Amino acid sequence: MGRVKVFDTTLRDGEQSPGVSLVPGEKLAIARQLAKLRVDVIEAGFPIASAGDFEAVRLIAREVRDVEVAGLARSNFKDIDRAWEALQEGADPRLHVFIASSPVHMKYKLKMKEEEVLERAVEAVKYASRYTSNIEFSAEDASRSELNFLFRLFSAVIKAGARVINVPDTVGYAVPDQFGLLIKQIKENVTNIEQAELSVHCHNDLGLAVANSLAALQNGATQVEVAVNGIGERAGNTALEELIMALYTRKDFYDLTFSQDTTQIMRLSKMVSGLTGMAVQANKAIVGKNAFAHESGIHQDGVIKERTTYEIMDARSIGLEDNSLILGKHSGRHALWDFINELGYELDEEVFQGVFNRFKELADKKKKLSTLDIEALINNEIYSADDIYALDYVSVSTGNTLLPTATLKLKKDGHLIEKAACSGDGPIDAIFKAINEIINLEDIRLVSYKIDAVTEGTDALGEVVVKLKIKEKTYVGHSAQTDITYASTLAYLEAVNKYLATTNGRERVQANSS
Ligand code: KIV
Ligand code: ZN
Repeated sequence: MGRVKVFDTTLRDGEQSPGVSLVPGEKLAIARQLAKLRVDVIEAGFPIASAGDFEAVRLIAREVRDVEVAGLARSNFKDIDRAWEALQEGADPRLHVFIASSPVHMKYKLKMKEEEVLERAVEAVKYASRYTSNIEFSAEDASRSELNFLFRLFSAVIKAGARVINVPDTVGYAVPDQFGLLIKQIKENVTNIEQAELSVHCHNDLGLAVANSLAALQNGATQVEVAVNGIGERAGNTALEELIMALYTRKDFYDLTFSQDTTQIMRLSKMVSGLTGMAVQANKAIVGKNAFAHESGIHQDGVIKERTTYEIMDARSIGLEDNSLILGKHSGRHALWDFINELGYELDEEVFQGVFNRFKELADKKKKLSTLDIEALINNEIYSADDIYALDYVSVSTGNTLLPTATLKLKKDGHLIEKAACSGDGPIDAIFKAINEIINLEDIRLVSYKIDAVTEGTDALGEVVVKLKIKEKTYVGHSAQTDITYASTLAYLEAVNKYLATTNGRERVQANSS
């Protein structure tokens, strides 16, 4: 029985999703949860791309010791030096070097001939092997490359020292039978392929990324590159949760083993959607809100009689707990601590204290708190930027016969500063205008605002996700409160604080979920 290695690229390709931008502390929180799920490799970023990417790779390589951490580099010395500088403190860092190999990319993007590309790739791999023998080589757009050239290229980079050969379907053009055949042909025609691990990296432009990855595994690939919730460039990458649960549920067919802990999937999915601000569609396989919901009476009746009539997976296998009513205002620290541990979170003292304080506040307003409420509180606390601006108070008046108006006062670095009162098209518009008046930042724009109830019932927590574009970069703020105007205020301030913390070098790395 073969073993599949899972290489997660949520923090690199996933972060290339339009409108997604994570700060290093958020990336570390996700990396810790990925380690808890026991992925084999975490691709933490593309260090030459930006100072933030460099810092995130350095932080993750230093802090996450039990998983290989990879950093991406183009096939040139500067990229490789920078990637290694970020990775070097890691326990077992991997340099991931790539160059495009398809006719269209070589001609128009690289303006290079086949032989030049081959020479550059070999030179880059040899250069990388000064630093480490843990080198992965990717032939970008491999699925549209000329076969004989691809075989020669792979053979040459293995000879130069590459230990993992990655076959990307960069533009999501492949279809399963053809992609499976490509992997088989690589195995048959690259003479030294036994000296390397064979990996695939699929994009989802035709909705086939998971199917193509599975076809590759059936034909001899042993590493698969994935991203949580399937995020990534354009239509995204192979979804981690779908790939793993396909192998888990259809073990009878694939007969492949893997080391991941499936019960961490739901937690990871929620964390990634919260921090990236990319909502998961309700009917998304495995992690969508409806993935385990049964609407028709016939189905509900069947599931009550025997779960497997209409469910091929047990919700508990992905860590979806019963949303039972469990804790209330009389529950103490111990009860909450035990409950959170039972859910599988290991919070450090500071984060737990934050969750506990919020729990007490919420329990005063809502009689019984469910698992979903507690998870919302945890996700609120797991990562937070230094509160450069903190809310002192917000007060809103609105109604169909009133001009919506917000009055608020903020503290900056602990000191009270001017209050502002603004009117707007609605209460949220008024709040955001009042904040803008105080913080006085140029070039700030609200790009999206989402609100959802965490549970059923009119006393539910309202979860608000705000995405701001400040000086061309996106910052996400998120807050869950029973009062949605308060949640909107805090979410907006969190996004502003993230911008200020990253630009002032004051990011507080307190994330801990492992
Ligand atoms: O899609 C792609 O080709 C990539 C490579 C850099 C692996 O992301
Ligand atoms: Zn990609």
